[in-house]
Amino acid sequence: MLNVGIILGSTRPNRNGEAVAKWVLEQAKSRTDASYELVDIKDYDLPLLDEPIPPSQGKYSQPHTKRWAEKIASFDAFVFVTPEYNHSTSGALKNAIDFLYGEWNNKAAGFVSYGSAGGARAVEALRLIMAEIQIADVRAQVMFSLFTDFKNFSEFAPDPRHDAELDAMLKQVVGWGTALKTVRDAAAKPSA
Ligand SMILES: Cc1cc2nc3c(=O)[nH]c(=O)nc-3n(C[C@H](O)[C@H](O)[C@H](O)COP(=O)(O)O)c2cc1C
Repeated sequence: MLNVGIILGSTRPNRNGEAVAKWVLEQAKSRTDASYELVDIKDYDLPLLDEPIPPSQGKYSQPHTKRWAEKIASFDAFVFVTPEYNHSTSGALKNAIDFLYGEWNNKAAGFVSYGSAGGARAVEALRLIMAEIQIADVRAQVMFSLFTDFKNFSEFAPDPRHDAELDAMLKQVVGWGTALKTVRDAAAKPSA
């Protein structure tokens, strides 16, 4: 069974992200194509990147990095739930991504975003980052407007049309996640 991590990418008090990520998890739980888990980066207490050796070398020294790496390594694919901050993703999510490297590689991801313009620019920024960490990001995405999917910009009340959008995105994530697992399995095999 494929393991999909739903990464909650905002950490501030009163964040809208928590309701959005919980909605993703609730919808996903009714599926049988993968196992889904919510991962709140807030729970990992990551400081600003404090590893002396670049993460691409995989020589992590800090206990918080090792804990974060172990969690991310346990997934085959991801759904990033991202706010839009200043036309990009949150600093907290970017920092959490920067902490690791190999644990992201050859996996798949999709995006759920929210903001006044649906968080579209945050996802575009994340797509550039995905290329560098060797994550295959799927086309389908879910975008929530602060104007039409939230009451008073703070109470999550998603339009029902997003159910089908999430379904389409998760199908693509599971498809690519399954395909990429074969790439990782082949790389892990000792050469003949
Ligand atoms: C620092 C900051 C910058 C923001 N910049 C944008 C922006 O550029 N575009 C946008 O559509 N919304 C922007 N917003 C609005 C957020 O998308 C909105 O408040 C959202 O709920 C933030 O996610 P969170 O509640 O999970 O932290 C910004 C909010 C914050 C706190």
